[in-house]
Amino acid sequence: MVIKKFNHIAIMVRNTSESINFYQDMLGLEYVHGLVFKNSNNQRVFHSFLALEDRSCLALFEIEGNDTYYNQNKILDQHFALECSKEYVDIIFKKIVNINKKRKTNLIKFGFQDHGFVNSFYFNDPSGNWLELTYFCDPWFFSKKNALDELKKWEQSKK
Ligand SMILES: [Fe+2]
Repeated sequence: MVIKKFNHIAIMVRNTSESINFYQDMLGLEYVHGLVFKNSNNQRVFHSFLALEDRSCLALFEIEGNDTYYNQNKILDQHFALECSKEYVDIIFKKIVNINKKRKTNLIKFGFQDHGFVNSFYFNDPSGNWLELTYFCDPWFFSKKNALDELKKWEQSKK
């Protein structure tokens, strides 16, 4: 099997703190990382990770704004990420390029991205679902950052 495991599954949430408390208390997941970025619509987003025992994660996205914003964007960033080798990502990339040529389509979403702690290749399935293949993952990254400090800064700065 070339796919090693789920790296993360990402969902949208209304309020990160509320959701982190829910998944910690309900399922015992561990809040391990949080960061702020701007999405393609120039909205501020808080992206957090809750780890399972095998260090795969449930990833949460909270877009800054009110409930209407959440309802309009709730499936915008939903995706799942599978972990594999760079060699396998290159094979998949070539397959996607061939499908694009044959079907005159474009299944490549964001292409290749280096996030520092993980590298990713993003593409769509034929139904438009967003997939991510991760490689060169740093297993020690989550212990280097102070996730609670990042969450506190987000809660204090969001509008
Ligand atoms: Fe992701």
